[in-house]
Amino acid sequence: MDQKIYWNNKHSAISKTQKPNPFAKRMLISIGANNFKKILDLGCGDGRDAIFFAKNGLRVVAVDFSNTVIKKLEKRAAGKNIKNMVFNQIYRILRKGGMLFMKVKSTEDALYGKGKAIEKDMFIYEHLRHFFSKNYTENKLKRFETVKIRKTSGTYHTYKSSFIEAIACK
Ligand SMILES: C[S@@+](CC[C@H](N)C(=O)[O-])C[C@H]1O[C@@H](n2cnc3c(N)ncnc32)[C@H](O)[C@@H]1O
Repeated sequence: MDQKIYWNNKHSAISKTQKPNPFAKRMLISIGANNFKKILDLGCGDGRDAIFFAKNGLRVVAVDFSNTVIKKLEKRAAGKNIKNMVFNQIYRILRKGGMLFMKVKSTEDALYGKGKAIEKDMFIYEHLRHFFSKNYTENKLKRFETVKIRKTSGTYHTYKSSFIEAIACK
């Protein structure tokens, strides 16, 4: 199934906005410590984190390819400091000293290997997922000045998920 159609359908079926991700809450502390004023939320979904950051005084740019979710988010964000834009080069657009906070599924996740293999560490099972190993993440972030990467796990929906969390500073 086309990925956009998958996510549009999924977002149409959900009416309640979820609480902010605990990762976003933790990152707000780093953001405050660095006195950052702007944040780019990639794959923002229903905007639970984007709205949380906006409520905490940050200027938020929230990006998602699902029209359904962006329409919903625009309604909720009316009067708040949120807009969306096209994004593809994180490193290029970050200013010197700008930071990337990233949480992605890891190659140790229970869903790894399920469904149809598309490319290395990418599978279509309900929807397309890209699983990150620690090495791969380190490699992708090697241009950054400082990088902290850690493996985490937790219950996501109904099953145990494994993640890579990365914090990188340009
Ligand atoms: C697992 S959801 C996470 C949503 C949100 N970050 C959260 O934690 O609630 C992934 C989101 O990424 C979006 N997405 C997936 N692939 C994308 C792409 N290639 N470009 C833009 N958005 C994408 C989907 O529409 C979906 O909203």
